[in-house]
Amino acid sequence: MARKVEAELGFAFPPEWHIPEKLKESMQYSLMAGGKRLRPILVIAAAEAFGGRIEAAIPIACAVEMVHTYSLIHDDLPAMDNDDYRRGKLTNHKVFGDAMAILAGDGLLTHAFYSIVQAHRKFGVPAEAALSIVEDLAVLAGAKGMVGGQAADILGEQGITRLEELEYIHVRKTSDLIVFSLKAGARLAGAGEPQLAALEKFGHHIGLAFQIQDDILDLIGDEQKLGKPVKSDEKQMKVTYPYFIGIEASKRKIEELTEGAKSAIIEGGIPKPDRLLQLADYLMARDH
Ligand code: IPE
Ligand code: IPE
Ligand code: MG
Ligand code: MG
Ligand code: MG
Repeated sequence: MARKVEAELGFAFPPEWHIPEKLKESMQYSLMAGGKRLRPILVIAAAEAFGGRIEAAIPIACAVEMVHTYSLIHDDLPAMDNDDYRRGKLTNHKVFGDAMAILAGDGLLTHAFYSIVQAHRKFGVPAEAALSIVEDLAVLAGAKGMVGGQAADILGEQGITRLEELEYIHVRKTSDLIVFSLKAGARLAGAGEPQLAALEKFGHHIGLAFQIQDDILDLIGDEQKLGKPVKSDEKQMKVTYPYFIGIEASKRKIEELTEGAKSAIIEGGIPKPDRLLQLADYLMARDH
C-alpha cells in the first residue's frame, strides 16, 4: 500500500497544469526522495481498522505526506535547523536555493488541500467527511498545531526549563500531524466520536514517543540509516528528552507511551486494531 502512495505521489500534480519547471522539480525532489511514509501508512491503517476503502484513503495519504515533506524542507532551512542532508540526499535548499525551497514548501502545503478534495470528487468520500478532514488538517498542521510547535521549538531553544514545555513542543510539532493521519483515515471509514477520541489518544502517545526516539537517534543513531545528519540538535543547542532526563529514562518513557497508546486502541472499540498495534511496536524499535 505504501507503494501505491509512492506511485500516486509521482503524479501529485495534474500533467496539464503549467507549473514553473524549477518549482515542479524542487517539489518532486523532496517528495520522491523516499522517507518512511509513516503518516500515509497511518491514514491507511486507520481506514482499514474500520473496514474503509483503501482507494479513497490514497489522496488523503498523499496530502499528509505533502504537508510533512513541506515541513521538512522548511525545517532544514538555514534560518531553522540549517541541515544539509535529508532522506539520504542534499536538502532542498542546498540544491534549489532558499527561495525555491521556501516556495516548494508553500506549493506542497497548498496542494495537500487540493488532494483531499479529490477524495470526494474522484472516490465519493462524503462531502461532510471531506470537510471535517480539511478542517482537521488546517487545525492540526497550522498555527495551533504543527506550525505552532515548530515556532515554540525555535523560540524555546536553550530556554526550556520544564519537561512540560518540551512535551508541549513535541506534541504540537510531531503528534498533531500523526493524530490528523489517524483521524482522517477513520473519518473516511465512518468512525464515530468515541473512536476518534481513542485514536487521538493513540496518536498523541505514539507521536510523542516518535519524537523522543528521533531525538535519541539524533544522538546515537547511524547517519547512513537515518539519511540525515546526527548531532543536529546539539549543534542548534536544542533541549530534548535525552538532554533533560538521559537516554535510558527516555527509552523507558517511549515504552510507557507505547503501552498507553495500545491501551487506548484496545479500550476504544476499534473493530480491527491489529495493524495499528503492530505499528506502535514497530515505531518503538525503529533505528531510522
Ligand atoms: C522526521 O519525520 C521529522 C519528525 C517529525 C521527527 P520522519 O522520521 O517521519 O521522516 P521521513 O518522512 O521518514 O523522512
Ligand atoms: C521537526 O523535528 C519536526 C517537524 C515538524 C518537521 P526535528 O527538527 O527534530 O526533525 P528532524 O530531526 O530534522 O527530522
Ligand atoms: Mg526542527
Ligand atoms: Mg530538524
Ligand atoms: Mg530531530
